[in-house]
Amino acid sequence: MSEVITDTAAPKKRMLSGIQPSGDLHLGNYLGAIRNWGARSDTYECFYFMADLHTITVRQNPADLRRRTLEQLAQYIACGLDPEKNTLFIQSHVHQHAELGWVLNCYTMFGELSRMTQFKDKSAKHAENVNGGLFTYPSLMAADILLYQPDLVPVGHDQKQHCELTRDVAKRFNGIYGDVFKIPEPYIPETGARIMSLNAPDTKMSKSIPEGCVFLMEKPEDIQRKFKRAITDSDTENCVRFDPENKPGVANLMSIYSAVTGKTYAQIEEEFAGCGYGKFKPVVGDAVIEHLRPIREEASRLMKDKAYLESVYRSGAEKASFVAEKTLRKVYKKVGFVAR
Ligand code: TYM
Repeated sequence: MSEVITDTAAPKKRMLSGIQPSGDLHLGNYLGAIRNWGARSDTYECFYFMADLHTITVRQNPADLRRRTLEQLAQYIACGLDPEKNTLFIQSHVHQHAELGWVLNCYTMFGELSRMTQFKDKSAKHAENVNGGLFTYPSLMAADILLYQPDLVPVGHDQKQHCELTRDVAKRFNGIYGDVFKIPEPYIPETGARIMSLNAPDTKMSKSIPEGCVFLMEKPEDIQRKFKRAITDSDTENCVRFDPENKPGVANLMSIYSAVTGKTYAQIEEEFAGCGYGKFKPVVGDAVIEHLRPIREEASRLMKDKAYLESVYRSGAEKASFVAEKTLRKVYKKVGFVAR
């Protein structure tokens, strides 16, 4: 039986997060975010969505966006997000996101938005299309979060700044109108919060550098090739040691290996003592391949069942909308809009 959300105060604490379906999901998204989502679905009321509204801040091919949104849902489920325990939905199906996004735009300062690292990075990367949406994106993200009054927002390290802005905007709004929004805490995992590119360990893993990025649905031989070519260092001792400052490539591989096997850095150093990088890299590749195998197989199976995926996102949107509407109604009343 799926959980019925009633109008009474929620008995469980809430968690919420989202990922943009602007590219295929990769190991960074998985280790930094999704993997930590399922773990708490028994103790938290959880909302996870495909952030499609955000993706159009950069031009998308419409057919690809539609396909990737559904693939992302299949991958969420395959990664262990049981739709009976987690509310899974498509952001654009819950109109309250865009509506609260507009309101919060009017409570977010130009200076605050100008300081966002993601805006600076993306506007440099897409200099031909520095649009208003790209600039005000963090207000929409604040709306995504605050609509659900969550306690925790599990994200990777790169979203910390947006979460802090969300807290500032919520406090500002509450300061004017009283306690409207719960102030959420970002939840950033100890390992996996910042997975770096395999071929550029000073840059975070992202779909924009595909050679250094491991995609969840990628073929095992392609994954292994990327690990074998991973950049390490020219340190003559050729030794597997956790030293992010001096050996960022090796430290990144160790954090990936630790995240998929549960081994500590000390155990990994011991396991590969005297082995050299040539032996270490393919073992990490194999561990990742085996970790991802059941996810890939289950996601491929689910992608063939479009009717099931549709039933999940429809019921997810209904549940999400119910919760979101409560907050939106309160906000509209506070700012002085006439009730419909
Ligand atoms: P997005 O779509 O870029 O990334 C989704 C999640 O994956 C994490 N992540 C990483 N973690 C570790 N290492 C990496 N290399 C890596 N790359 C990505 C991100 O930190 C994120 O948790 N604005 C958000 C999406 C969003 C959202 C929200 C998140 C929209 N509304 C509300 C939380 C709550 C974004 O662009 O993430």
